[in-house]
Amino acid sequence: MLELVEKTMREIVASLDDARVCSLYEGVPSGKRLRAKLILKIASTHPDAVKLAAIVELIHAASLLHDDVIDDALTRRGVDSINARFGNKTAIMLGDILYSKGFFELCALPSSVAQTISNAVALLSLGELQDVELAQRFHHDKATYDQMIYNKTASLIEASAKAAAQLVGKPWEPFATYGRNLGLAFQIVDDILDITQDSQTLGKPALNDFAEGKTTLPYLYMYEALNTEDKAMLLSLFGVVLSPSQAAWIHEKMHTSGALSRSIAHAKRLGKEALDAIGETGVEGLDKVVIQMIEREF
Ligand code: IPE
Ligand code: IPE
Ligand code: MG
Ligand code: MG
Ligand code: MG
Repeated sequence: MLELVEKTMREIVASLDDARVCSLYEGVPSGKRLRAKLILKIASTHPDAVKLAAIVELIHAASLLHDDVIDDALTRRGVDSINARFGNKTAIMLGDILYSKGFFELCALPSSVAQTISNAVALLSLGELQDVELAQRFHHDKATYDQMIYNKTASLIEASAKAAAQLVGKPWEPFATYGRNLGLAFQIVDDILDITQDSQTLGKPALNDFAEGKTTLPYLYMYEALNTEDKAMLLSLFGVVLSPSQAAWIHEKMHTSGALSRSIAHAKRLGKEALDAIGETGVEGLDKVVIQMIEREF
């Protein structure tokens, strides 16, 4: 089924009938396809399930093209990012093409499905805007962080699960709750992996969030736990490209302050809430998605 999704994505891009765009698109490797997998599990029997999965993955790919420009990220999915290879302008325009082609195809699906997905894309963009604005200064406001990660990441994962349920005419509320909690946990795990993994494993820059001004949940928890002197040290590293000894200090304090384990526990709690929501729905495999997502290494 996932191969069919890949094929449909290529066909949608090819329908623009432009060799340059097709060749640029060939240079965008596949990711984990989490959103497609969710849609296929929930709406598997529907003739438009693959189409919806392809649309959402094109939209997600577009958001990453723009995100790497926003975050000055030079690698993505294990290769040089499109902005690194061809410049920001090309990455932005290719992103716009993937968004527009996705929306064009979305128009042919039921309006409830189209509204669910397009609404989430507006929230995703709002979340990216909030992420950028929050990055201007250090903050330790958990409620603001929660709101921002809901918008930038959880909204599209929530919408994927909800739209898949709408497509097959299932009551969508439990799926939306599942997707929202899965999505929140997903971004927290992404923020943890930025600290615990190396760039090669991630396929994207590691220990990059704080240098980019992103006060993610582990940093928020770490700040709360540190003494005055260490708080000052942490603040001095905000927005800084870290030397090896500064990186080692962050790594050590992330562990000794309990910030990492507290973040992992929070992600697991959200994962549990996702699981609780779908208990009664009878759709198989959604529990495995949560477990794999929490335990993932990239
Ligand atoms: C990356 O999403 C951006 C976030 C929302 C954290 P994924 O981790 O799903 O990226 P791919 O598609 O697998 O590369
Ligand atoms: C998620 O944020 C990006 C989107 C929702 C588009 P990140 O900036 O943390 O994503 P990565 O780490 O670059 O994949
Ligand atoms: Mg990024
Ligand atoms: Mg970002
Ligand atoms: Mg990240």
